[in-house]
Amino acid sequence: MSPSVISAVRPVAEIVPFDPKTHLQGAVEALLRLRRAGGLYPPRNVKAAISDFAYWLLSEEVLGRWVALIDGQVAGHIALTAPHPYLTDALASMDQVPVEPDGFCEVSKFFVDPDAQDRGVGAALFDAAIGFARSQGLQPALAVVDTSLAARRFFGRHGMTEAGSLRGIHGEKFVFVGAAKTVWRREPAVTARAA
Ligand SMILES: CC(C)(COP(=O)(O)OP(=O)(O)OC[C@H]1O[C@@H](n2cnc3c(N)ncnc32)[C@H](O)[C@@H]1OP(=O)(O)O)[C@@H](O)C(=O)NCCC(=O)NCCS
Repeated sequence: MSPSVISAVRPVAEIVPFDPKTHLQGAVEALLRLRRAGGLYPPRNVKAAISDFAYWLLSEEVLGRWVALIDGQVAGHIALTAPHPYLTDALASMDQVPVEPDGFCEVSKFFVDPDAQDRGVGAALFDAAIGFARSQGLQPALAVVDTSLAARRFFGRHGMTEAGSLRGIHGEKFVFVGAAKTVWRREPAVTARAA
């Protein structure tokens, strides 16, 4: 195989289980860069101090947690949790009944360093987390604030369906649910334009 072919198939990032000793600092630094970039993530009620971001990141029990590494550096993070009560209530009010045997799980703390976005790192992280959820008989769900347009577009293109919206402490949030394992498929990232 020629070197150019090898580089063409090189994965965009390595997805590994989160190890706090090795990955916490890099994940927090990515969060600080996200905050400095001026977006709405992480939520504004979390202070932009290393200890606050670290606490926020680790503040809940997870079913799984992964980081994306590029050249050994943390480029992104994703976690799966049991669904929070606000999400469970919202799903019930939207008549969403889980189609997977073990119910819903929640995609949580999903972010990619601004310097590494738009290169497929988010897709790689999301695939890893969703693959794990499916292997556990869990159906992914999440809520995203209405102004996070990139994230809403991302989820729509990655097999998630908008189920409705709710008004929370951070404004309006859109609730997405994943399809059942048997019909799960990813929407193509690029749609062919009609001639
Ligand atoms: C949502 C988020 C995690 C996506 O991460 P990402 O690494 O940029 O995601 P990807 O690179 O896989 O996809 C983003 C876009 O890049 C494009 N892309 C992917 N690989 C590409 C490549 N090699 N070349 C050019 N474009 C590419 C994709 O088509 C995609 O476009 P789309 O969203 O319109 O489909 C990131 O925007 C983020 O961290 N946002 C802030 C935090 C947030 O809102 N999290 C969600 C809270 S619920």
